[in-house]
Amino acid sequence: MNLTREQGVLTIHGHSLLDIKEQYGTPLFVYDESLIRNQCRRFHETLQASGLTYTISYASKAFTSIQLFKLMQEEQMGLDVVSEGELYTALTAQFDPQKIHFHGNNKTDHEIEYAIEAGVEYFVIDAIDEIERINTIAKRKNSTVKAVLRVNPGVEAHTHEFIQTGQEDSKFGLSIKHGLAIKGVKHIQEASHIDFYGIHFHIGSQIFESTGTIETIQIVIHWLKENNIDIKVLNIGGGFSIKYTSEDISYPIEDGIKAITQTLIDTCNEIDYKTPEISLEPGRSIVGEAGITLYEVGTVKSIPETNKYISIDGGMSDHIRTALYDAQYELELVDREDNQTENVTVAGKLCESGDIIARNTALPVSTKRGDTLCVKSTGAYHYSMSSNYNQMLKPAVVFVSEQGVREVIKRQSLEHLIANEVQ
Ligand code: LLP
Repeated sequence: MNLTREQGVLTIHGHSLLDIKEQYGTPLFVYDESLIRNQCRRFHETLQASGLTYTISYASKAFTSIQLFKLMQEEQMGLDVVSEGELYTALTAQFDPQKIHFHGNNKTDHEIEYAIEAGVEYFVIDAIDEIERINTIAKRKNSTVKAVLRVNPGVEAHTHEFIQTGQEDSKFGLSIKHGLAIKGVKHIQEASHIDFYGIHFHIGSQIFESTGTIETIQIVIHWLKENNIDIKVLNIGGGFSIKYTSEDISYPIEDGIKAITQTLIDTCNEIDYKTPEISLEPGRSIVGEAGITLYEVGTVKSIPETNKYISIDGGMSDHIRTALYDAQYELELVDREDNQTENVTVAGKLCESGDIIARNTALPVSTKRGDTLCVKSTGAYHYSMSSNYNQMLKPAVVFVSEQGVREVIKRQSLEHLIANEVQ
């Protein structure tokens, strides 16, 4: 995100983060709306240039919000949803259901019914028994639904084990190698109320290079040709990386997507297979770098010759990725520029030793209670993975653009926190 200092204070689009904090409180998620739009446009432009017919669906799990979905619709994006709740939120945002794909490795009958009633564009089928369940429900509802089959290509993406999904031992998709995928395709083709529409794969997340995707496209297209299967669409999922720290690599959208689309075109041409439409499902790369979290510094505790703990007014309830994946972040003091730094541990306020935001991170020696900290690249899988652990309230979310600052999600209230409790 483009943060600049004006009179020492961090600003975004000319708005001081201190003023934003003053108005909305902390912890607070702040998004650069223009950056989100810009990412959507980069994907569009690169895919347009490929000459392929394409669609891009934003993977809503990265950050689900009505205002974001409205923005996605304005940017000609589709949506990937994985639950009744995500679909409900999208429909509430008046998102065109014909641009929504319904995912999930364990869809309930209720979710299948709901998605059919909503008129989603297609289901991404993830298991053999799901085919019969979708077919039966579609038949009962007198409708025919489109479906793509998620296959497991047996390719390992080079990323954290918890966010790898394309390896053989995975709960996602049907294995090509073990013959489950071909069985799935045949079942779908035979189903009376399902139109077989294509193939889907997603090999993992936070992947910074295209080799795994390229290899998978080749495997899938050859497999389709060998088995004489025609498809309309090949959905290659998401997983494009972002920069959490200056050492990380943001997936090179222009070059990477070009290499991917060219592989699809060349592979199809080489073996005389009809080139399908391509579909992408980026989540993190659309919103990740566009978001930051603001916290207020509270207790500062120095343990002689050991460590200095700087505690903030949020923690693993709004920032679980450090505890879960040992993810690394860059932090900055919002209030002032101060080059005299020391390495400290920034901790949350929740009752758990693992509630850490960043270990061994450089912050000004002068950091004290009342200061404001900014954690960068928290736009994806932060708000959406937030919880009420320790009855913490979910933070507010604001969007900032050249036009100004607007609140898109209000801070959760104490009343809302206990709204479902029987008193
Ligand atoms: N499509 C499918 C089928 C997916 O499973 C995912 C992510 C995406 C698209 C979007 O992937 P992205 O472009 O955002 O990498 N909580 C983890 C990430 C889990 C990703 C799950 N699936 C994290 O915080 O890193």
